[in-house]
Amino acid sequence: MATSNRAETKIPLMTHHDAAPPKMLATHSIIVMSGKGGVGKSTVSANLAVALSLKGYAVGLLDADLTSPSIPRLLSLFGNVECQDNQLMPISYSEKLKVLSTGFLIPSSDRAIVWRGGVKMAAIRQFINETNWGALDFLVVDLPPGTGDEPLSIAQDLRPDGALIVTTPQAVALVSSRKSVDFLRKVGVPVIGIIENMSGYECPTCGTHVDIFQSGGGERSAKELGVPFICRIPLDIAICESGDSGKPIGENGAQASCSAESINTIARNVLHFYGITEDVRTESITKQRGDK
Ligand SMILES: Nc1ncnc2c1ncn2[C@@H]1O[C@H](COP(=O)(O)OP(=O)(O)OP(=O)(O)O)[C@@H](O)[C@H]1O
Ligand SMILES: [Mg+2]
Repeated sequence: MATSNRAETKIPLMTHHDAAPPKMLATHSIIVMSGKGGVGKSTVSANLAVALSLKGYAVGLLDADLTSPSIPRLLSLFGNVECQDNQLMPISYSEKLKVLSTGFLIPSSDRAIVWRGGVKMAAIRQFINETNWGALDFLVVDLPPGTGDEPLSIAQDLRPDGALIVTTPQAVALVSSRKSVDFLRKVGVPVIGIIENMSGYECPTCGTHVDIFQSGGGERSAKELGVPFICRIPLDIAICESGDSGKPIGENGAQASCSAESINTIARNVLHFYGITEDVRTESITKQRGDK
């Protein structure tokens, strides 16, 4: 295991604080955000990234939840990020999917990352400007909850061209979704749509449907805020287990499940939002690069 050139110490030492022009890392950069914590942003980000990569797109997944990274665990992906020619090297999940997370920079998941604003901003700049992502069709960015340092830095330094808002169905969802939409309007990032996660539970033994967190809040929020509603993802033991075991639901032969169908719907909506009509990658997306 090569530890001599671990990137761990590089971030706090970074000195390039002058405003660099936003860099276009990918043809399309998508942020996944929410007003509330624990609603399923990382689950959606990881599964969306895998789904797009399985369709043949070159995908980067940036875990911008710097102090509570969960992407490495969700993908069961571990390793040391190394530096080559002063560039961070993301970890490959597959031929089509590269991943970068602060989880790869610390020796143990039990170790706390104690960073405040300036260091977080520097880390995000490094993840964007000093990382060898290669040519990407999509960069999916998993954000921490709220509208703090990470979302703002990502919005300013990356200039994403689409955002997915994840919410749960309760009435409070409207309040938090409204804040997310307001943030996105302020920073000029278009909303792809709202996803209502943890929406209803179907008992696997008796088939009874229970709306544990009520239902419809996401759809009502979307209507009220004038943004598209994408889909509902049910509360599903398979999603929870897939997160814990690090096996995304699009993999592992789970294609027929309702949750896998929801992830596919999200991927299709993302492609549709960017005017991509082919479900599977063709050369057309490369031709769009630079048109924007
Ligand atoms: N539809 C679902 N059914 C069952 N479990 C789910 C579902 N969606 C997410 N989970 C589980 O809920 C937990 C929280 O999900 P996740 O980490 O994706 O949320 P988050 O919004 O990223 O949280 P945070 O705000 O802390 O970053 C995880 O254990 C995940 O497996
Ligand atoms: Mg998360």
